[in-house]
Amino acid sequence: MTSKILVLPGDGVGPEICRETIRVIDALQRDHGLDVELEEGLVGGIAYEETGNPLPEETLEKARAADAILFGAVGGPQWDSLPRESRPESGLLRLRSELGLFANLRPALLYPQLAHASTLREDVVSGLDIMIVRELTGGIYFGQPRKTRTDMGGRRQAVNTMLYTDGEIDRIARVAFDIARRRGKKLCSVDKANVLEVSQLWRDVVGEVHEKDFSDIELSHMYVDNAAMQLVRAPKQFDTIVTGNLFGDILSDIAAMLTGSIGMLPSASLDENSKGMYEPVHGSAPDIVGQGVVNPLATILSLAMMLRYTLAREDLADRVESAVGDALDRGLRTRDIMDGEAQVASTGEMGGAVVDMLQ
Ligand code: IPM
Ligand code: MG
Repeated sequence: MTSKILVLPGDGVGPEICRETIRVIDALQRDHGLDVELEEGLVGGIAYEETGNPLPEETLEKARAADAILFGAVGGPQWDSLPRESRPESGLLRLRSELGLFANLRPALLYPQLAHASTLREDVVSGLDIMIVRELTGGIYFGQPRKTRTDMGGRRQAVNTMLYTDGEIDRIARVAFDIARRRGKKLCSVDKANVLEVSQLWRDVVGEVHEKDFSDIELSHMYVDNAAMQLVRAPKQFDTIVTGNLFGDILSDIAAMLTGSIGMLPSASLDENSKGMYEPVHGSAPDIVGQGVVNPLATILSLAMMLRYTLAREDLADRVESAVGDALDRGLRTRDIMDGEAQVASTGEMGGAVVDMLQ
Protein backbone atom coordinates (compact mmCIF):
# COMPACT_ATOMS: atom_id res chain seq x y z
CA MET A 1 0.00 0.00 0.00
CA THR A 2 1.26 3.45 -0.92
CA SER A 3 2.02 5.59 2.14
CA LYS A 4 1.48 9.31 2.05
CA ILE A 5 4.31 11.56 3.22
CA LEU A 6 3.71 15.25 3.71
CA VAL A 7 6.87 17.36 3.42
CA LEU A 8 6.82 20.66 5.33
CA PRO A 9 10.12 22.40 4.59
CA GLY A 10 9.28 25.57 6.57
CA ASP A 11 11.82 28.35 7.05
CA GLY A 12 15.53 29.02 7.11
CA VAL A 13 17.57 25.98 6.16
CA GLY A 14 14.40 23.82 6.15
CA PRO A 15 14.04 23.73 2.34
CA GLU A 16 17.73 22.84 1.87
CA ILE A 17 17.70 19.88 4.26
CA CYS A 18 14.35 18.62 2.97
CA ARG A 19 15.61 18.77 -0.63
CA GLU A 20 18.48 16.38 0.21
CA THR A 21 16.18 14.07 2.13
CA ILE A 22 13.77 13.91 -0.83
CA ARG A 23 16.71 12.79 -2.99
CA VAL A 24 17.18 9.90 -0.56
CA ILE A 25 13.46 9.07 -0.71
CA ASP A 26 13.57 9.13 -4.52
CA ALA A 27 16.51 6.73 -4.54
CA LEU A 28 14.72 4.37 -2.15
CA GLN A 29 11.65 4.44 -4.41
CA ARG A 30 13.68 3.86 -7.54
CA ASP A 31 15.99 1.10 -6.31
CA HIS A 32 14.69 -0.36 -3.07
CA GLY A 33 10.96 -0.83 -3.38
CA LEU A 34 9.80 1.99 -1.15
CA ASP A 35 6.19 2.82 -2.03
CA VAL A 36 5.32 6.37 -1.04
CA GLU A 37 3.58 9.42 -2.42
CA LEU A 38 4.97 12.87 -1.56
CA GLU A 39 3.05 16.05 -1.04
CA GLU A 40 4.27 19.47 0.12
CA GLY A 41 2.72 22.03 2.42
CA LEU A 42 3.33 25.41 4.00
CA VAL A 43 4.21 25.91 7.65
CA GLY A 44 5.96 28.50 9.79
CA GLY A 45 7.05 31.98 8.78
CA ILE A 46 6.63 31.33 5.07
CA ALA A 47 3.07 30.15 5.69
CA TYR A 48 2.40 33.28 7.73
CA GLU A 49 3.72 35.45 4.87
CA GLU A 50 1.54 33.72 2.30
CA THR A 51 -1.64 33.08 4.27
CA GLY A 52 -1.44 35.07 7.52
CA ASN A 53 -1.35 31.82 9.51
CA PRO A 54 1.74 29.77 10.54
CA LEU A 55 -0.39 26.61 10.24
CA PRO A 56 -2.93 27.14 7.45
CA GLU A 57 -6.06 24.99 7.58
CA GLU A 58 -5.02 23.38 4.28
CA THR A 59 -1.73 22.21 5.78
CA LEU A 60 -3.47 20.80 8.84
CA GLU A 61 -5.84 18.85 6.59
CA LYS A 62 -2.97 17.46 4.55
CA ALA A 63 -1.20 16.54 7.79
CA ARG A 64 -4.23 14.67 9.07
CA ALA A 65 -4.47 12.76 5.79
CA ALA A 66 -0.77 11.83 5.70
CA ASP A 67 0.78 8.72 7.24
CA ALA A 68 3.96 10.57 8.08
CA ILE A 69 5.28 14.11 7.99
CA LEU A 70 8.80 15.21 7.19
CA PHE A 71 9.34 18.56 8.86
CA GLY A 72 12.25 20.91 8.14
CA ALA A 73 12.45 23.84 10.56
CA VAL A 74 10.54 27.00 11.42
CA GLY A 75 11.36 30.48 12.67
CA GLY A 76 13.58 33.43 11.97
CA PRO A 77 14.39 36.84 13.44
CA GLN A 78 12.01 38.65 11.07
CA TRP A 79 9.04 37.01 12.82
CA ASP A 80 10.23 37.32 16.43
CA SER A 81 8.13 40.38 17.22
CA LEU A 82 4.83 38.95 15.94
CA PRO A 83 2.13 38.11 18.48
CA ARG A 84 2.62 34.59 19.84
CA GLU A 85 -0.18 32.93 17.86
CA SER A 86 1.24 34.22 14.56
CA ARG A 87 4.81 33.17 15.24
CA PRO A 88 6.28 30.32 13.19
CA GLU A 89 6.85 28.22 16.34
CA SER A 90 3.10 28.30 17.02
CA GLY A 91 2.58 26.44 13.74
CA LEU A 92 4.85 23.64 14.96
CA LEU A 93 3.28 23.51 18.43
CA ARG A 94 -0.23 23.39 16.98
CA LEU A 95 0.71 20.58 14.62
CA ARG A 96 2.07 18.53 17.52
CA SER A 97 -1.00 19.20 19.59
CA GLU A 98 -3.70 18.86 16.87
CA LEU A 99 -2.23 15.56 15.70
CA GLY A 100 -1.76 14.23 19.24
CA LEU A 101 1.97 13.65 18.73
CA PHE A 102 2.66 13.19 22.42
CA ALA A 103 5.75 10.99 22.30
CA ASN A 104 8.94 12.68 21.16
CA LEU A 105 11.92 10.37 20.64
CA ARG A 106 15.30 12.06 20.51
CA PRO A 107 18.22 9.67 20.20
CA ALA A 108 21.68 11.04 20.96
CA LEU A 109 24.06 8.72 19.25
CA LEU A 110 27.74 9.40 18.81
CA TYR A 111 29.10 8.26 15.47
CA PRO A 112 32.59 6.88 16.17
CA GLN A 113 33.84 8.88 13.17
CA LEU A 114 32.87 12.09 15.00
CA ALA A 115 34.18 11.28 18.49
CA HIS A 116 36.55 14.25 18.43
CA ALA A 117 33.94 16.70 17.13
CA SER A 118 32.45 16.74 20.65
CA THR A 119 33.56 19.49 23.01
CA LEU A 120 33.80 16.80 25.69
CA ARG A 121 36.75 14.45 26.11
CA GLU A 122 36.60 11.46 23.83
CA ASP A 123 36.60 8.94 26.69
CA VAL A 124 33.55 10.65 28.20
CA VAL A 125 31.46 10.42 25.02
CA SER A 126 32.80 7.55 22.90
CA GLY A 127 30.12 4.92 22.38
CA LEU A 128 27.39 7.25 23.63
CA ASP A 129 23.88 6.02 22.83
CA ILE A 130 21.06 7.69 24.76
CA MET A 131 17.37 7.89 23.93
CA ILE A 132 15.45 10.84 25.36
CA VAL A 133 11.68 10.38 25.43
CA ARG A 134 10.09 13.80 25.83
CA GLU A 135 6.38 14.33 26.51
CA LEU A 136 5.36 16.72 23.75
CA THR A 137 1.73 17.82 24.01
CA GLY A 138 1.34 18.73 27.68
CA GLY A 139 3.15 20.39 30.56
CA ILE A 140 3.96 24.08 30.70
CA TYR A 141 3.90 24.43 26.90
CA PHE A 142 0.13 23.90 26.85
CA GLY A 143 -1.20 24.23 30.45
CA GLN A 144 -3.94 26.74 31.25
CA PRO A 145 -4.08 29.43 32.47
CA ARG A 146 -1.45 31.18 30.42
CA LYS A 147 -1.52 34.93 30.09
CA THR A 148 0.06 38.28 30.69
CA ARG A 149 -1.90 40.75 32.79
CA THR A 150 -1.57 43.94 34.80
CA ASP A 151 -2.38 43.83 38.51
CA MET A 152 -4.20 46.51 40.54
CA GLY A 153 -0.93 48.29 41.21
CA GLY A 154 -0.18 48.55 37.49
CA ARG A 155 2.54 45.90 37.64
CA ARG A 156 2.82 43.61 34.64
CA GLN A 157 2.64 39.88 35.35
CA ALA A 158 2.76 36.77 33.25
CA VAL A 159 1.74 33.24 34.11
CA ASN A 160 2.13 29.78 32.59
CA THR A 161 0.95 26.55 34.12
CA MET A 162 2.83 23.28 34.30
CA LEU A 163 0.02 20.77 34.35
CA TYR A 164 0.04 17.02 33.86
CA THR A 165 -2.78 14.53 34.33
CA ASP A 166 -2.10 10.98 35.48
CA GLY A 167 -3.27 9.72 32.07
CA GLU A 168 -0.75 11.84 30.19
CA ILE A 169 2.08 10.64 32.41
CA ASP A 170 0.96 7.02 32.19
CA ARG A 171 0.96 6.95 28.38
CA ILE A 172 4.37 8.58 27.92
CA ALA A 173 5.83 6.34 30.64
CA ARG A 174 4.59 3.26 28.76
CA VAL A 175 6.21 4.44 25.52
CA ALA A 176 9.48 5.03 27.37
CA PHE A 177 9.44 1.69 29.21
CA ASP A 178 8.73 -0.08 25.92
CA ILE A 179 11.69 1.61 24.27
CA ALA A 180 13.95 0.90 27.26
CA ARG A 181 12.94 -2.76 27.01
CA ARG A 182 14.21 -2.86 23.42
CA ARG A 183 17.47 -1.12 24.42
CA GLY A 184 19.51 -1.36 27.62
CA LYS A 185 16.51 -2.07 29.94
CA LYS A 186 17.29 1.02 32.03
CA LEU A 187 14.99 4.02 32.34
CA CYS A 188 15.75 7.25 34.17
CA SER A 189 12.75 9.49 34.82
CA VAL A 190 13.64 13.16 35.22
CA ASP A 191 11.57 15.62 37.24
CA LYS A 192 11.74 18.32 39.91
CA ALA A 193 9.79 16.46 42.60
CA ASN A 194 11.68 18.19 45.42
CA VAL A 195 9.88 21.43 44.51
CA LEU A 196 6.92 20.86 42.18
CA GLU A 197 3.63 19.04 42.84
CA VAL A 198 3.34 18.28 39.15
CA SER A 199 6.68 16.47 39.35
CA GLN A 200 5.63 14.50 42.43
CA LEU A 201 2.63 13.23 40.46
CA TRP A 202 4.97 12.45 37.55
CA ARG A 203 7.23 10.43 39.84
CA ASP A 204 4.33 8.59 41.46
CA VAL A 205 2.68 7.61 38.17
CA VAL A 206 5.93 6.51 36.52
CA GLY A 207 6.54 4.34 39.62
CA GLU A 208 3.05 2.81 39.41
CA VAL A 209 3.42 1.94 35.72
CA HIS A 210 6.79 0.39 36.51
CA GLU A 211 5.46 -1.76 39.30
CA LYS A 212 2.42 -2.85 37.34
CA ASP A 213 3.81 -3.70 33.93
CA PHE A 214 7.53 -3.09 33.62
CA SER A 215 9.24 -4.45 36.72
CA ASP A 216 11.88 -6.09 34.48
CA ILE A 217 13.21 -2.60 33.64
CA GLU A 218 15.63 -0.87 36.01
CA LEU A 219 13.95 2.44 36.90
CA SER A 220 15.65 5.42 38.53
CA HIS A 221 14.46 8.96 39.25
CA MET A 222 16.60 12.07 38.99
CA TYR A 223 16.06 15.78 39.56
CA VAL A 224 16.41 17.81 36.41
CA ASP A 225 19.28 20.01 37.65
CA ASN A 226 21.28 16.93 38.55
CA ALA A 227 20.36 15.29 35.24
CA ALA A 228 21.73 18.30 33.33
CA MET A 229 24.96 18.01 35.31
CA GLN A 230 25.22 14.22 34.94
CA LEU A 231 24.68 14.50 31.18
CA VAL A 232 27.88 16.49 30.81
CA ARG A 233 29.77 14.73 33.62
CA ALA A 234 29.16 11.07 32.82
CA PRO A 235 26.60 10.75 30.02
CA LYS A 236 27.16 7.04 29.47
CA GLN A 237 25.36 6.22 32.74
CA PHE A 238 22.10 6.85 30.83
CA ASP A 239 20.29 4.51 28.50
CA THR A 240 16.71 5.79 28.13
CA ILE A 241 15.46 9.02 29.74
CA VAL A 242 11.80 10.01 30.09
CA THR A 243 10.77 13.52 31.03
CA GLY A 244 8.20 16.27 30.54
CA ASN A 245 7.94 18.80 27.75
CA LEU A 246 10.07 21.67 29.10
CA PHE A 247 12.78 19.57 30.77
CA GLY A 248 12.96 17.41 27.64
CA ASP A 249 13.43 20.47 25.44
CA ILE A 250 16.44 21.54 27.49
CA LEU A 251 18.02 18.15 28.16
CA SER A 252 17.76 17.09 24.53
CA ASP A 253 19.80 20.10 23.43
CA ILE A 254 22.47 19.19 25.98
CA ALA A 255 22.47 15.57 24.85
CA ALA A 256 22.67 16.71 21.22
CA MET A 257 25.81 18.70 21.86
CA LEU A 258 27.52 15.71 23.51
CA THR A 259 27.51 14.03 20.12
CA GLY A 260 29.54 16.79 18.51
CA SER A 261 26.88 18.50 16.48
CA ILE A 262 23.22 19.22 16.74
CA GLY A 263 23.40 18.89 12.93
CA MET A 264 23.43 15.10 13.31
CA LEU A 265 20.38 14.51 15.47
CA PRO A 266 17.00 13.27 14.26
CA SER A 267 13.70 13.05 16.10
CA ALA A 268 10.33 11.37 15.87
CA SER A 269 7.05 12.58 17.33
CA LEU A 270 4.47 9.82 17.50
CA ASP A 271 0.77 9.56 18.24
CA GLU A 272 -1.03 6.57 19.79
CA ASN A 273 -0.98 4.70 16.48
CA SER A 274 2.61 5.33 15.41
CA LYS A 275 1.65 7.97 12.91
CA GLY A 276 4.50 10.41 13.16
CA MET A 277 6.20 13.65 12.38
CA TYR A 278 9.94 13.50 11.78
CA GLU A 279 12.23 16.47 12.13
CA PRO A 280 15.83 17.34 12.87
CA VAL A 281 16.47 18.53 16.43
CA HIS A 282 18.25 21.63 15.13
CA GLY A 283 16.31 24.73 14.15
CA SER A 284 16.09 26.98 11.11
CA ALA A 285 19.67 28.35 11.48
CA PRO A 286 18.96 31.75 9.86
CA ASP A 287 22.67 32.66 9.97
CA ILE A 288 23.62 30.06 7.34
CA VAL A 289 20.55 30.03 5.08
CA GLY A 290 21.10 29.63 1.36
CA GLN A 291 24.85 29.04 1.61
CA GLY A 292 24.70 25.30 0.97
CA VAL A 293 26.59 24.56 4.18
CA VAL A 294 23.88 23.13 6.45
CA ASN A 295 24.29 19.49 7.48
CA PRO A 296 21.43 17.46 5.96
CA LEU A 297 22.19 14.33 8.01
CA ALA A 298 19.83 15.10 10.93
CA THR A 299 16.93 15.23 8.46
CA ILE A 300 18.09 12.17 6.52
CA LEU A 301 18.38 10.30 9.84
CA SER A 302 14.86 11.51 10.69
CA LEU A 303 13.74 9.81 7.49
CA ALA A 304 15.39 6.63 8.80
CA MET A 305 13.28 6.95 11.95
CA MET A 306 10.17 7.39 9.76
CA LEU A 307 11.02 4.19 7.89
CA ARG A 308 11.43 2.38 11.20
CA TYR A 309 8.54 3.70 13.30
CA THR A 310 5.77 4.59 10.83
CA LEU A 311 6.46 2.86 7.52
CA ALA A 312 7.56 -0.45 9.08
CA ARG A 313 10.61 -0.67 6.81
CA GLU A 314 13.31 -1.49 9.34
CA ASP A 315 15.40 -2.86 6.45
CA LEU A 316 15.44 0.52 4.69
CA ALA A 317 15.99 2.38 7.98
CA ASP A 318 19.14 0.30 8.53
CA ARG A 319 20.21 0.93 4.97
CA VAL A 320 19.88 4.72 5.31
CA GLU A 321 21.71 4.73 8.65
CA SER A 322 24.58 2.71 7.28
CA ALA A 323 24.76 4.93 4.18
CA VAL A 324 25.20 7.91 6.54
CA GLY A 325 27.99 6.04 8.33
CA ASP A 326 29.62 5.22 4.98
CA ALA A 327 29.49 8.87 3.86
CA LEU A 328 31.26 9.83 7.10
CA ASP A 329 33.78 7.01 6.58
CA ARG A 330 34.56 8.47 3.19
CA GLY A 331 35.77 11.55 5.06
CA LEU A 332 32.91 13.86 4.10
CA ARG A 333 32.18 16.55 6.69
CA THR A 334 29.87 19.53 6.58
CA ARG A 335 31.21 22.60 8.33
CA ASP A 336 29.55 21.83 11.69
CA ILE A 337 31.36 18.49 12.06
CA MET A 338 34.61 19.57 10.46
CA ASP A 339 37.95 18.49 11.83
CA GLY A 340 41.56 18.67 10.68
CA GLU A 341 42.12 16.65 7.54
CA ALA A 342 38.57 16.07 6.29
CA GLN A 343 37.12 17.59 3.12
CA VAL A 344 34.45 20.24 3.62
CA ALA A 345 31.29 18.98 1.97
CA SER A 346 28.40 21.16 0.91
CA THR A 347 24.82 20.26 1.80
CA GLY A 348 24.33 18.82 -1.69
CA GLU A 349 27.58 16.84 -1.65
CA MET A 350 26.66 15.25 1.67
CA GLY A 351 23.16 14.38 0.44
CA GLY A 352 24.61 13.03 -2.80
CA ALA A 353 27.14 10.89 -0.92
CA VAL A 354 24.35 9.29 1.13
CA VAL A 355 22.41 8.56 -2.08
CA ASP A 356 25.53 6.94 -3.62
CA MET A 357 26.14 4.85 -0.53
CA LEU A 358 22.61 3.42 -0.61
CA GLN A 359 23.55 1.20 -3.51
C1 IPM B 1 12.27 21.83 19.81
C2 IPM B 1 12.18 23.31 19.63
C3 IPM B 1 10.73 23.74 19.82
C4 IPM B 1 10.33 23.35 21.23
C5 IPM B 1 10.46 25.22 19.53
C6 IPM B 1 10.88 25.61 18.13
C7 IPM B 1 9.03 25.59 19.77
O1 IPM B 1 13.04 23.95 20.51
O2 IPM B 1 11.63 21.10 19.03
O3 IPM B 1 12.99 21.39 20.71
O4 IPM B 1 10.60 24.08 22.19
O5 IPM B 1 9.73 22.29 21.38
MG1 MG C 1 14.32 22.65 21.59
